[in-house]
Amino acid sequence: MSLPHGSGWYQIAFVSEITRPVFPAAIGRHRLAIIRSGGRTRVVDAICPHRGADLAYGGRLDGDAIICPFHGFRIGIDTTVEHGLRVREHEILELGGLLFVRLGEGADNGFSATLHMLAETRSLVPGFTMRLDAAADMIIENAFDQAHFRPVHGIGLESSFRMMPSERGELAVEGSFDMPPSPWQRGREDGRPEAVPFRARAFSPGLIVSDLGGAYPYTVITAATPVPDGGAIIRLSLALERDPDGQPPRSDLVDFLLRRSREGLEKDRMVWEHRAKDHHPVFTNLDGPVRAFREFCDGFCVVASG
Ligand code: FES
Ligand SMILES: [Fe+2]
Repeated sequence: MSLPHGSGWYQIAFVSEITRPVFPAAIGRHRLAIIRSGGRTRVVDAICPHRGADLAYGGRLDGDAIICPFHGFRIGIDTTVEHGLRVREHEILELGGLLFVRLGEGADNGFSATLHMLAETRSLVPGFTMRLDAAADMIIENAFDQAHFRPVHGIGLESSFRMMPSERGELAVEGSFDMPPSPWQRGREDGRPEAVPFRARAFSPGLIVSDLGGAYPYTVITAATPVPDGGAIIRLSLALERDPDGQPPRSDLVDFLLRRSREGLEKDRMVWEHRAKDHHPVFTNLDGPVRAFREFCDGFCVVASG
């Protein structure tokens, strides 16, 4: 079943979205405050333990505390400074303009190492946000749903999906697509589809990293984060091979990949937003990877609301 919010890594913002030193964020009903000060980013629970004010709306940073906008008490960040009031700080990852937070203990599943590796070896390109009336885990499940690629996206499978051994707790699948010619696969001029290897690794119910091979390999980081009033916000980014001369990725190709990703999600959106949300599935023999993803999601405990 869909988790409204859970443990594990979620992307809560692009850094470019953060426009105040104390800025609101959420994972489902779990409200968070992003604090940016002196080049440092911290993420804490947003709800003041005194009377429940949201510190991200009018709170001010004061050393290791936030001054609450309601009664003006100093609320300690993982430390008690006044009246025994404190909020919890969470582990974050901020790389290449992307901000992730890990709720709860454990459940890293190798994401931290994967993102660091991508940031060191590729160019990370923050992409776009998209709001959807669909559960975050339903959006991430899509990458494991091999039967939907042809009807929804017009992309055939060159070989069916195989579950891969997990290295650090992530859920990984491999397959191969028949991709139509495009500016990205511009090595082929004869109009025939190209077999493009595909690998997807889910690190939480809201986070998947997909690698596409072929002549010009690229990686898509798709984050789907539940929003407080239901549905989810997608933040999609690219990790592109570094130019040997140190030039930034070509903007026409970045634009093409982002546009194609957005168009793909718009096609999924029609199905996602109209499907019966409380439906009980009847799985087929093509749904092995989907079932594995459902079991993977069941392993993430629900974290108490802030
Ligand atoms: S609600 Fe925060 S100090 Fe009272
Ligand atoms: Fe899809």
